[in-house]
Amino acid sequence: MFKIFNTLFHMFLKSYSNQTRLWYARRLGVHVGEDCRLYSVRFGSEPYLISIGNHVTITREVTLLTHDGGVWVWRHQDPTIDYIRPIVIEDNVFIGVQAIILPGVVIGRDSIVGAGAIVTKSVPPGSVVVGAPARIVSTTDAYMQKLKQGISTKGMSPQDKRETLLRTWGSTPEEWKTKLAELSAGTLDA
Ligand SMILES: CC(C)(COP(=O)(O)OP(=O)(O)OC[C@H]1O[C@@H](n2cnc3c(N)ncnc32)[C@H](O)[C@@H]1OP(=O)(O)O)[C@@H](O)C(=O)NCCC(=O)NCCS
Repeated sequence: MFKIFNTLFHMFLKSYSNQTRLWYARRLGVHVGEDCRLYSVRFGSEPYLISIGNHVTITREVTLLTHDGGVWVWRHQDPTIDYIRPIVIEDNVFIGVQAIILPGVVIGRDSIVGAGAIVTKSVPPGSVVVGAPARIVSTTDAYMQKLKQGISTKGMSPQDKRETLLRTWGSTPEEWKTKLAELSAGTLDA
């Protein structure tokens, strides 16, 4: 009984929090599409110049910067100087933890931004980009093909997921190291 209550409570909390963040983003003036997940709401000083399409995930500690504070060094000569550009995130995009998106960037639809990336230039649709400055390392299609070869746990109960993962990887750090080495060598699908 407690387990069911606990699961329901956490489901409520999760969806409530996302709804709250979506509401907050829209209230700031961010254009946000449908079916989005926002785990961070760092939209800088011009949120009304940010557009987020449909089915977009923005994970934790992601920052979207529409202005370049570097103009500060000229401010004493030109008090009105500014560099401000919109940011557009098209449909079906995933932005990894702690990524930074700089002014004027368009992230094309069906793209993935890796954790910690600093995106300085627009990303063509269907790309996977990583690093600082972000570079294209593959297409989303190629990334998907890679994932299809591994095990899938989405939709499983937490218990089934745990059992499946422990069966695949083993339960000790030694087994994990061995299997990770097999994975690097291409002799294991996970
Ligand atoms: C980008 C990502 C999706 C993997 O893409 P991938 O196509 O499988 O990338 P690979 O693992 O094949 O790596 C390709 C290259 O990119 C590099 N790379 C991968 N992820 C990177 C990252 N986040 N930052 C910097 N470099 C990265 C690899 O080292 C490799 O470099 P190399 O070609 O010089 O050897 C994944 O690494 C990532 O960052 N996911 C987001 C994680 C996250 O934020 N999770 C939150 C869950 S809510």
